[in-house]
Amino acid sequence: MSAFLVRKASLNDAEALNEMINQAAVNMYMVRNGSSLKDTCEFIQRVKENLLVAEYNGKAVGQANYELGTHKNAHTASFGIAVNAGCHGKGIGTVLMNALFDELRAKGVTRLESHGGVFADNKAALSFYTKLGFKVEGLQHKAYKRGNTFVDGVRIVRFL
Ligand SMILES: CC(C)(COP(=O)(O)OP(=O)(O)OC[C@H]1O[C@@H](n2cnc3c(N)ncnc32)[C@H](O)[C@@H]1OP(=O)(O)O)[C@@H](O)C(=O)NCCC(=O)NCCS
Repeated sequence: MSAFLVRKASLNDAEALNEMINQAAVNMYMVRNGSSLKDTCEFIQRVKENLLVAEYNGKAVGQANYELGTHKNAHTASFGIAVNAGCHGKGIGTVLMNALFDELRAKGVTRLESHGGVFADNKAALSFYTKLGFKVEGLQHKAYKRGNTFVDGVRIVRFL
């Protein structure tokens, strides 16, 4: 894959991000069960200062977002990430995470964890996070329910 760029998100990314969020291979590892275009627009509007996208051929093909801690947690942040299923395994997630690390370091963040946990059956993500230097902090028993099946969560953390 030739070069892609990482930039802040805008409402123009709503359709591409909404398509990605609703892809089965992406949505099965998210807490929310799909998203309408309106939901995605509201999400972008709410977090766009903290929302990076990877753009390829003029289209957003991945996103990473973060939320800063406050008060005694002000040195911490949590994050979420997803890459369009058609573009997995091409280094986009790694570039997004490294851009996120740089932005958070510049804000004085020293501890980063995932929003909630990682689905324990999300082997790709767990391998991805391990390669990026995250460590497992603990298991969240039956944290998620997909259909009638409980799935554990894995809390991960990385110091910046
Ligand atoms: C997890 C995710 C963000 C990774 O993004 P990506 O752009 O595909 O990842 P990269 O190409 O940067 O991969 C970097 C490394 O992660 C690991 N990795 C990525 N996909 C993997 C897979 N399917 N199986 C095993 N390891 C994998 C590898 O170590 C890889 O390094 P390598 O290419 O040298 O082997 C992406 O798979 C995704 O969006 N998944 C669906 C949504 C999701 O699970 N989000 C996270 C929720 S916690």
